[in-house]
Amino acid sequence: MIVGVPKEIKKDEHRAALSPGAVEALVSAGHTVLVEKGAGLGAGIADREYREAGGRVTPAAAEVWRRSQMGVKVKEPLKAEYALMREGQTLFAFLHLAAAQPLARVLVRKRVRAIAFETVRTANGALPLLQPMSEIAGRMAVQEGAKYLEKSMGGRGVLLSGAPGVARGSVVILGAGMVGKNAAKIAVGLNADVTVLDVNHSRLEYVDDIFGGRVKTLASTRFSIREAVREADILIGAVLVPGARAPRLVPRALVRRMNPGSVIVDVAVDQGGCVETIRPTYHSRPTYVVDGVIHYGVANMPGGVPRTSTFALSNAILPYALELANLGVVEAVRAFPELAEGLNAAEGRITHPAVAEAVGMKCARVEEVF
Ligand SMILES: NC(=O)c1ccc[n+]([C@@H]2O[C@H](COP(=O)([O-])OP(=O)(O)OC[C@H]3O[C@@H](n4cnc5c(N)ncnc54)[C@H](O)[C@@H]3O)[C@@H](O)[C@H]2O)c1
Repeated sequence: MIVGVPKEIKKDEHRAALSPGAVEALVSAGHTVLVEKGAGLGAGIADREYREAGGRVTPAAAEVWRRSQMGVKVKEPLKAEYALMREGQTLFAFLHLAAAQPLARVLVRKRVRAIAFETVRTANGALPLLQPMSEIAGRMAVQEGAKYLEKSMGGRGVLLSGAPGVARGSVVILGAGMVGKNAAKIAVGLNADVTVLDVNHSRLEYVDDIFGGRVKTLASTRFSIREAVREADILIGAVLVPGARAPRLVPRALVRRMNPGSVIVDVAVDQGGCVETIRPTYHSRPTYVVDGVIHYGVANMPGGVPRTSTFALSNAILPYALELANLGVVEAVRAFPELAEGLNAAEGRITHPAVAEAVGMKCARVEEVF
């Protein structure tokens, strides 16, 4: 199969979909990989590295799209790319079609076979292509929080590890899922005083087990949140109720009771945030202050570390990209139920119920189209 990797054109998107290692794996399996010139530069990957991996560096986006049978991208195609997509082509990317009706219509009209990273789902409900981004955001949350705690950044001037004879800084994490667990790991590594709250007992049990008592776990109630948040130097919002807006767990009145110069990193801001005073921010200006508390609300945190994120995403994509290229889309979707879950559009139909509902189109079953 001819696989194309166009350069991302969305503002501030520096990731590439495939690393040189992934390109080499596809080429070794007998496929041709066209990589648009400069596709990896934002992630610090030179064209030469793709060439050495067996990729064919191709100067123009139009040529990559025209020649490839499957386009592998990070973000959804933008308007400028609509015309470049070919009839019957396969597209493998983050698509978020529920929020991109015009793109959904283009995919249907052009009979593109579109597999969305965010809906690839395994039998146990895991989202393997979203997971690496949550891992990275969780780890980054503590790093960012620690940075803004420094005095020169407007923070309280607390070192998370404390010092001999001086108390440690306190990190409070709401939610013990993928983001929360990874945040706890880094906070423990920095020797902070770490508290994790969740409503799901088995998540707390898991955190209790893996950190061997080094992390305090609390059942998430209004009472326990109030007690923990008041003393937090860094508060990390990491809750998720699938498909719903993030629950508002920290009202403004509680933010007001936090110490001046403490930091809130609400990772759940992409679902509306779990802190009343949070709003989305960008990497170019990530923080603002409310009631003396620093708020960090970047909705695409992994974009801040595009090199790490490129390799993490590429690692997660590669097994699926290989199956799609080896078997062809139809056979791969039949063979792997998680790819069938990922299929959002094919043969001029929308094939994912939630997407169909969101864009107001009829939904076809995967077995009907393939
Ligand atoms: N800002 C970013 O760049 C970025 C990046 C990745 C993920 N996210 C977001 O981070 C959030 C968490 O993602 P995740 O992968 O960790 O999800 P997850 O499903 O793995 O974990 C969420 C956890 O929240 C818990 N929870 C639900 N309600 C709660 C409550 N009232 N109190 C305490 N805990 C509660 C759940 O039991 C679960 O353990 C999501 O909104 C996700 O979209 C943001």
